[in-house]
Amino acid sequence: MAGIQRRTVLAAVGGTVAAGGAVGSGLMGSGTAHAAQSAAVPAPAKAHSGPHEAKVRSLLARMTVEEKLGQLQQLPWSYNTGPGGAETKDVEDAARKGRLGSVLSIFGARSSNALQRIAVEESRLGIPLLFGLDVIHGFWTTFPIPLAQAASFDPEVSKRDGEVSAKEARSNGVHWTFAPMMDVTHEPRWGRIAESCGEDPHLTSAFAAAKVHGYQGKNAGELDAKDRLAACAKHFVAYGGAEGGRDYNTVDVSESRLRNFYLPPFKAALDAGVATVMASFNTIGGVPAHGNTHTLTEILKGEWGFDGMVVSDWTGVQELIAHGFAEDGADAARLTLNAGVDMEMTSTNLVAHGKQLLKSGRIKADRLDEAVSRILRLKFALGLFAHPYVEESAEITEPSKQARAAARETGARSMVLLKNEDDTLPLSASASSIAVVGPFGDSSDLLGTWVMPAAQEKFPSVKVLDAVRKAAPGAKVRYARGVDAEGKDLSGIPEAVAAAKAADVTVVVVGEPPAISGEAAARSDISLPGAQEKLIAAVAETGKPFVVVLVNGRPLTIGGWLEQAPAVLEAWHPGVEAGNAIADVLFGAVNPGGKLPATFPRSAGQIPVYYNHENTGRPYDPDNKYTSKYLDLPHGPQFAFGFGLSYTTFEVGEPRLSGSRIAAGALRKGDTVEVAVPVTNTGERAGDEVVQLYVHDRAASIAQPVRRLAGFRRVGLAAGKSRTVRFRLGAADLGFWSNDPHGEFRIEPGAIDVYVGNSSQAEAKVTLTIG
Ligand code: BGC
Repeated sequence: MAGIQRRTVLAAVGGTVAAGGAVGSGLMGSGTAHAAQSAAVPAPAKAHSGPHEAKVRSLLARMTVEEKLGQLQQLPWSYNTGPGGAETKDVEDAARKGRLGSVLSIFGARSSNALQRIAVEESRLGIPLLFGLDVIHGFWTTFPIPLAQAASFDPEVSKRDGEVSAKEARSNGVHWTFAPMMDVTHEPRWGRIAESCGEDPHLTSAFAAAKVHGYQGKNAGELDAKDRLAACAKHFVAYGGAEGGRDYNTVDVSESRLRNFYLPPFKAALDAGVATVMASFNTIGGVPAHGNTHTLTEILKGEWGFDGMVVSDWTGVQELIAHGFAEDGADAARLTLNAGVDMEMTSTNLVAHGKQLLKSGRIKADRLDEAVSRILRLKFALGLFAHPYVEESAEITEPSKQARAAARETGARSMVLLKNEDDTLPLSASASSIAVVGPFGDSSDLLGTWVMPAAQEKFPSVKVLDAVRKAAPGAKVRYARGVDAEGKDLSGIPEAVAAAKAADVTVVVVGEPPAISGEAAARSDISLPGAQEKLIAAVAETGKPFVVVLVNGRPLTIGGWLEQAPAVLEAWHPGVEAGNAIADVLFGAVNPGGKLPATFPRSAGQIPVYYNHENTGRPYDPDNKYTSKYLDLPHGPQFAFGFGLSYTTFEVGEPRLSGSRIAAGALRKGDTVEVAVPVTNTGERAGDEVVQLYVHDRAASIAQPVRRLAGFRRVGLAAGKSRTVRFRLGAADLGFWSNDPHGEFRIEPGAIDVYVGNSSQAEAKVTLTIG
């Protein structure tokens, strides 16, 4: 589906771009504020000394300007037509002429080989193409959405997704995935929260690193393996700060917020070896990320020494004009290249205007060579010159048994138990009658956002209804939809009520269709769409036991019906094994152990509400009107970050420090403090608890969040068993970035409160002094 919509965008935007030829007045003449930006471009990174350098240099020396500019171009391939089809002819022609570096959204061993053959065998230099695809939470085997994966608080979940996806995609000719997405956000209205790891930089960093390792392998130099993909850290940067949660919207952040909140996951991905980075659609303080020298060149390529490639987002270069930043296509090309973007996705400004810009000195030959080198280096690292084609007989065409098992396990591992009054859950597999009601009870559309149409068609998700029937083979299982997912028609409710009345227990499966989460899917009201709440109320009125299973791509406002529901399981969009994973948890084969990676607000009017906020000068006081609160809402979230129940109970004990004082200098040298935390399974079943550690710097030169996550560990414990979890706190956990644009990390003397527990509302505390 995404592919089809995108064709239209290409025709509308790409066409104009290619046709437009007006050359802007340039650096000297434009007189615009950002002319200075271009002038300030730092010198290209120091001479590279990687294993492919000699080959990159010798190839570069043989390339014409057109061929160099061609490497900077990425064009989309259609999902609808195969090689030779009319719509893909432009792509093939560009490949033949050596005017193309990369293609996105092509897959399949035969199709990709056919296109590759044109580049390798018919173009003058035979430089292979780089094939990219959005393999976000699965290729054939769809895993739970990234937000769900984060809820597992187990980065291994994302590593496994990465490994399975890389193997399937690479065998289909894909070299590069546009993942992981690591935009930290406080905005549940923003549809793309589904693709993110939620609201915490520490959690997101851990998942970002794990996913990069899953795709690329842990060691540098594995990219040429048959089961690896180059990863892409996106979207750089602060895209999750979109005002009002409206996609693509403006972002204005301080340097300290940028560095403490949005940047850390990207740094973690870099440290994990990520091969590429994608620029984001937003502005940052008025400067679009695609033209932002500060973030792309000063921080990413300069301060952090990133030597991989930066790709634009889809028409992100062209959009510099709509932002009101570039005058025309030539200006957009100049601004983006000079700011640090190396490859242009979909729009064609660099190839269209690059030569003219070079001639007039508005872009430099050195910078062009540097961008091309970054792209060629990646192609060498992927082994494309030595092995441009994939083995057609080895193409993976369906999920393997093991891959499905991994998707099922991770689906169940990502679920969060929000409420469970009177042990309503787990359900008994020997129940004699069960009703399944709700628009998603019999739905195979639980894969989530970012699924290839071909995967959706061939490998839809297992339905909850089918899985319940399998899990409780002796039960009479009756289904009634009740209401549809988004409409207002209540006529199906009586049938659902009759089914609930006749059953021992009812499973109400409600939520969001995947199409209303993800890109371009912001919602202003994040309650259950349509008349779904009415269905819950009608089932509640029967007085019979029931559980609500939520399938959704974002935190929801749960409102009034929470009181009525005895049990609520947050299942997210769980992927191809959705029904089975849900049944595993409902019937207790898996004891839920996930935790919320993002706050659930009480109402949309309370957004943004997040755990890692600053205190204000007038923190909430119920007895004082003149403190920070809403008059018409109880204070605080509906469900806090890090919250989640289990079918057993746990006790997280008092934290102990290895020393109560540490010098800032010692921290800078790499010393750490150990925090030991006892945890006991105090119930009667085995289960998992996520032990969480938060820090709060009481007084600092820049006010610090009331808490921020600095450690977490998911541990499995048999009934009655205990263990001690140990964390180490170092400089990165105890210091913070200041507002200095050149990057100043401060570790200040004073008291740090260290909280441990099983949610962000943990109370057990110990104080560490930085002396
Ligand atoms: C999205 C990116 C994606 C790209 C290519 C854009 O609209 O923002 O995340 O990788 O399209 O499909």
